[in-house]
Amino acid sequence: MSEEQKIVAIFGFPISHSLSPVMHNAGFKELGLDYKYLPFKVNPSDLKAAVNALRALNFLGANITVPHKETVMEYLDEVTENAFLIGAVNTIENIDGRLIGHNTDCKGFVTALKAAGIKDFKKSRVVIVGAGGASKAACVGLLREGVKHLTIANRTGRKAELLCDNFKGCFCKAKITVCPLNDDDLSVVFAECDILVNTTSVGLGGETLKLPLKSLKEGALVYDMVYNPPKTKLLKQAKKLGHSIENGLNMLLYQGTEGFEIWTKEAAPIEVMKDALFKSAYGE
Ligand code: ATR
Repeated sequence: MSEEQKIVAIFGFPISHSLSPVMHNAGFKELGLDYKYLPFKVNPSDLKAAVNALRALNFLGANITVPHKETVMEYLDEVTENAFLIGAVNTIENIDGRLIGHNTDCKGFVTALKAAGIKDFKKSRVVIVGAGGASKAACVGLLREGVKHLTIANRTGRKAELLCDNFKGCFCKAKITVCPLNDDDLSVVFAECDILVNTTSVGLGGETLKLPLKSLKEGALVYDMVYNPPKTKLLKQAKKLGHSIENGLNMLLYQGTEGFEIWTKEAAPIEVMKDALFKSAYGE
């Protein structure tokens, strides 16, 4: 390692599964940058010290992943408006020891939807399943794009209501509603839905998120943030019913390319990063 080499870290607990090092290191190499992206397993009790080390060691920045995305905020000097609205930071920029917290998940999600063929968000009605951190990032991304009608459906109804009330105050032009997670109520909103998004981790272990897909509007896109397996049971069912489908790997890509641009101030080599990421996730 040379004295000039710049380091970007990712802090998580655990961290060994992360696909981000491969993706970013491929991008740095492509642009001929003497940068290195390194994973660090950071125990929650060590997070403050790890964040301070970004300043002390003059790291270029960092990614923050589970379980630190919310708690990291109190150790930063500033957070962007999106990160504040979402209540989570996934990317840190180090400007001469001043740490700025960004949330690139929300733009990453929107860019992935655009890549999946969504052109006009202003006409779209979207149903989001889940009300955790991933849901918040998706909601903010969609509301910033001017989505007309957003419905949040969650197992614990109160959490969906809290999100709904919170976002109504900030995005007064959109119609934001909640829906109980049961077939009868979902069938009604599904009939008008252009984009259905699963933000829960159900499907990761091969389980099924049971939703009344038969009621979904013709032509609706079904988006599952789970990318492993590449086609969850939800996506398989949706495809069988003739819907277009998309998993969450492109969201991981585009949240990464935005972070890459924040750190390097250069356009991310998207195809190279995508190739490295997809190979690492799914093999050849
Ligand atoms: P993340 O930050 O990845 O979004 P999270 O904040 O833990 O993770 O949120 C997980 C979301 O998945 C929640 O909305 C959760 O529903 P509850 O609020 O009712 O807990 C949802 N979820 C998890 N397991 C679920 C299941 N088996 N069925 C339906 N929803 C589930």
